[in-house]
Amino acid sequence: MSRRLGCLVPYSLAVLLLSGLLFLKKEATPAGGPAARQPFWSPPGPRRSPCAPNRTVADVSLSLPGRHRLFLTYRHCRNFSVLLEPSGCAEDTFLLLAVKSQPGHVERRAAIRSTWGRAGGWARGRRLKLVFLLGVAGPAPPAQLLAYESREFDDILQWDFAEDFFNLTLKELHLQRWVAVACPQAHFVLKGDDDVFVHVPNVLEFLEGRDPARDLLVGDVIRQALPNRNTKVKYFIPPSMYGARHYPPYAGGGGYVMSRATVQRLQAAVEEAELFPIDDVFVGMCLRKLGVSPMHHAGFKTFGIRRPLDPLDPCLYRGLLLVHRLSPPEMWTMWALVTDEGLKCAAAPLPQLPEGRVE
Ligand SMILES: *[C@@H]1O[C@H](CO)[C@@H](O)[C@H](O)[C@H]1NC(C)=O
Ligand SMILES: *[C@@H]1O[C@H](CO)[C@@H](O)[C@H](O)[C@H]1NC(C)=O
Ligand SMILES: *[C@@H]1O[C@H](CO)[C@@H](O)[C@H](O)[C@H]1NC(C)=O
Repeated sequence: MSRRLGCLVPYSLAVLLLSGLLFLKKEATPAGGPAARQPFWSPPGPRRSPCAPNRTVADVSLSLPGRHRLFLTYRHCRNFSVLLEPSGCAEDTFLLLAVKSQPGHVERRAAIRSTWGRAGGWARGRRLKLVFLLGVAGPAPPAQLLAYESREFDDILQWDFAEDFFNLTLKELHLQRWVAVACPQAHFVLKGDDDVFVHVPNVLEFLEGRDPARDLLVGDVIRQALPNRNTKVKYFIPPSMYGARHYPPYAGGGGYVMSRATVQRLQAAVEEAELFPIDDVFVGMCLRKLGVSPMHHAGFKTFGIRRPLDPLDPCLYRGLLLVHRLSPPEMWTMWALVTDEGLKCAAAPLPQLPEGRVE
């Protein structure tokens, strides 16, 4: 028995190595663009969906920055396969927490899972479902780690497209498709970044008594935003990609909450729309088409907390729903503070934010 095994191991290693080499050789001549190189030990998985670049666009957009050209060249590619997927939502799921992450953000995911992303008493008995939305980002961390996280925590939703700021719109589109199939019953969906702290009880209190069958998209709403015309900035958008003077009102992508009705209607709009590289503006465009106006709530701090307020003052969080930009250690610290029963806040100068107030 052990002798047969002893033969099998080197044999399968050799096969693996050989197929790995063949694979590398095939990858060595990419058809166009910087193909993400897979390490030889990566699991076979579904093959990259074939979608040819649009050479016409590539030729007419020569004056644009490389990333914009790349975006335009592949804008028509909208069908990517799922690589890892969690089980669907339970029947009584109240709030789906859909968190944009990246393969390398292992620590951020760990921090969220063990702080605000966990269910139980913190969620006031409401059923939550946590999923992390990922693309593909080269060989690190090894695919085995993601596969392990997926098995262990059942919260990894990964698609076969490259992780890129301009591909966040693809995450939106594919999340919509996943929700429609695997989680249509969730009453509300919170979509956010993996460096936000969400005060789940405050979010639930805000949602209390709201009808998921009515339109709602609430967050840090930005109105009359001007497209950035500075080519050096990450958010640069040339007039050829967006000609109007202002963007439609949109909720900052750091985090916002939608009702089931809005998610459903948004899905149809997103399917029909041509992709726009900035995901939160893209959702704003789709909302405008649907005639839904996003609601502003001062408790969503997607641009962080401004000084002189201390972002790590737990009393500040009593009236907040979501705060942007916390590192994993800050996430842990905040968690320890907001869940501290003995915390006394009366003496602290509070920003006057009665809970649930909507501006
Ligand atoms: C490629 O781009 C050109 C110019 O924008 C457009 O007219 C054409 O429809 C595109 N082709 C595909 C397959 O999307
Ligand atoms: C994506 O899939 C849809 C439906 O399955 C199909 O209509 C569409 O043509 C596909 N798009 C591309 C670029 O393959
Ligand atoms: C988005 O992902 C696709 C598929 O992996 C890739 O071809 C494209 O270059 C990516 N876009 C950007 C702007 O990186």
